[in-house]
Amino acid sequence: MMNIALQISPLAQHAYFHQLVDVAQAELALISHQFKPELFEVAGLNWLCIETEPHHLEALSRLSWVQGIYEQVGDAMKPLDVSPNFALHGDFVQGIKYKGKTSEVLTQLLINVGLAYQSDQPLSTIKLLDPMCGRGTTLFWAMRYGIKASGIDADSQAIDDVQRNLKKLCKVHRQKHQLDIGFSGKKNKRGDGRYLTFSTEGRSMRLLTGDARECSQLLNGERFDIIATDMPYGVQHAANEKNVLLIQLLESLLSDWLQCLKKDGVIVLSFNAKNPRKTAVIKIAEQLGFLVDDLGMAHRMSESIVRDVLVLKR
Ligand SMILES: C[S@@+](CC[C@H](N)C(=O)[O-])C[C@H]1O[C@@H](n2cnc3c(N)ncnc32)[C@H](O)[C@@H]1O
Repeated sequence: MMNIALQISPLAQHAYFHQLVDVAQAELALISHQFKPELFEVAGLNWLCIETEPHHLEALSRLSWVQGIYEQVGDAMKPLDVSPNFALHGDFVQGIKYKGKTSEVLTQLLINVGLAYQSDQPLSTIKLLDPMCGRGTTLFWAMRYGIKASGIDADSQAIDDVQRNLKKLCKVHRQKHQLDIGFSGKKNKRGDGRYLTFSTEGRSMRLLTGDARECSQLLNGERFDIIATDMPYGVQHAANEKNVLLIQLLESLLSDWLQCLKKDGVIVLSFNAKNPRKTAVIKIAEQLGFLVDDLGMAHRMSESIVRDVLVLKR
């Protein structure tokens, strides 16, 4: 056993606010229920201290809120050279800011939650879908992990924005890559069917313009291990659906996403706890035959919004 101090990233403090420790504990429990984390402050920085076996170190380094890992030896803290082994530069998830972007910390949490439900298959065999992917934070995180990622967004501008962002990032980081933009299916005014694929370091992602209620058709029946998405927080993010409450869409979204899940697949949803209400999400999901796990990860994301996270299993 080792005594480990996990340094809490200031970015995570911003993402989870006052509930940081609750979310951190819930995320730690995905690795082991045995951890008994203790919070302490040194040099103005916050840390969680646990006892762990060395084989957990790499998984600990991938926690959404961890900045660094130290071994506690007496009063001293020795930095440990543990790498999360991510591909691509962190700028691919952190470096681009835009309106409506999901916190990259929260996005990593959603992926970690989804992965906790997978058996020990290699990451390169896991397929992830974000059916409301915006400008692709989840897709780029998935690529960093080595997971094959697909995304859909109703906003026809998303592909152009991602293309522009990629051009800039690949130039700055001298990232050799392949980028392909094209069209599949019948053309319509909304631009549905337009796609972008990005490949680098033997990893790839693709983004399609389309409606999240039609994923199964847009993706020709392809099935995924993880569907992870940060749902719109209000009408300003609900492209094509002005004045329609998300709860009214949820039944059609979830019944379509059910068609896109592998047998042991899971949906990891984050959403504004006021719209839709958690009880309503659970009711609709259970009516469709899902089993719902509430991992206790609700947290305030801003003054007015409390964000919640649920896992839906087939
Ligand atoms: C909270 S944002 C997701 C942001 C994304 N995670 C990112 O970091 O870029 C929600 C997204 O849902 C998309 N959206 C809303 N209604 C949709 C629908 N019916 N089908 C597909 N996408 C939709 C919006 O265009 C918006 O990009």
